[in-house]
Amino acid sequence: METNIQKRRETRSLRVKVISLGNAEVGKSCIIKRYCEKRFVPKYLATIGIDYGVTKVQVRDREMKVNIFDMAGHPFFYEVRNEFYKDSQGVILVYDVGQKESFDSLDGWLEEMKQELGSLSNIESVVFVVCANKVDLTKRRVVDESEGRLWAESRGFFYFETSAQSGEGVNEMFQAFFSSIVDMCENGGKRPVAEVTPGFTREQADTIRRIRSSKDSWDMLGVKPGASKEEINKAYRKLAVLLHPDKCVAPGSEDAFKAVVNARTALLKNIK
Ligand code: GTP
Ligand code: MG
Repeated sequence: METNIQKRRETRSLRVKVISLGNAEVGKSCIIKRYCEKRFVPKYLATIGIDYGVTKVQVRDREMKVNIFDMAGHPFFYEVRNEFYKDSQGVILVYDVGQKESFDSLDGWLEEMKQELGSLSNIESVVFVVCANKVDLTKRRVVDESEGRLWAESRGFFYFETSAQSGEGVNEMFQAFFSSIVDMCENGGKRPVAEVTPGFTREQADTIRRIRSSKDSWDMLGVKPGASKEEINKAYRKLAVLLHPDKCVAPGSEDAFKAVVNARTALLKNIK
């Protein structure tokens, strides 16, 4: 008797709400269409406000009814979409790997969501997945994998490379996404940390990002132009400890480490 009740409890269906976010034209609707309808529409049909759909999925022994709210990315529709942020268990954040601006906008999308929800604690109860979309268009790619992965994983978000056109990564992304939402629901509404905890620190992630965007060797080492040999070496040692490939597994750390080594060499060369 007890086992029957238990069984029923375990197999009872879950109702969840997920939303898609990201700049206009990055491929949010196409990713959803690829998953739900197994097809791709090459013509751009901008979402007007919100598109809504329901899909049923099976995750382990749970049946899920997923309500998908596909948001319009255009700023014009802010007034329409801002009402739909609340009560979401999952967010699909999409950018186009061929459009740097859409990647740089991810922070803005998170901000918009936080602003609408009003409290940070809600964000902790949401599973986020970042889709680096349009990876089929390899020639126009400008945001590389390590950059996107670093942004996502340093925030505890999933990262997937996807193509709505070819279907690459789309099913895998949704499977991991839904499975993590089930885990979260079974975990009392808290996002399970272990699964997406990156093996690196926020400091390491921020340092790699800073190094990537530094304007010259001084800036890269974080010293003032004209700094002494000692100052350069001190700054170098600090960065080397943080980023050495033996110690840091953050995406892009190897390149960042090499850049720091080169910057130090270049600066020391000019000091007599
Ligand atoms: P809004 O609804 O305006 O916010 O845009 P969206 O993010 O929903 O974009 P949508 O899915 O409508 O796709 C925009 C354009 O990009 C369309 O022309 C799609 O055919 C194209 N597209 C979407 N995903 C891919 C992809 O993975 N590869 C390629 N090559 N094109 C894609
Ligand atoms: Mg759309």
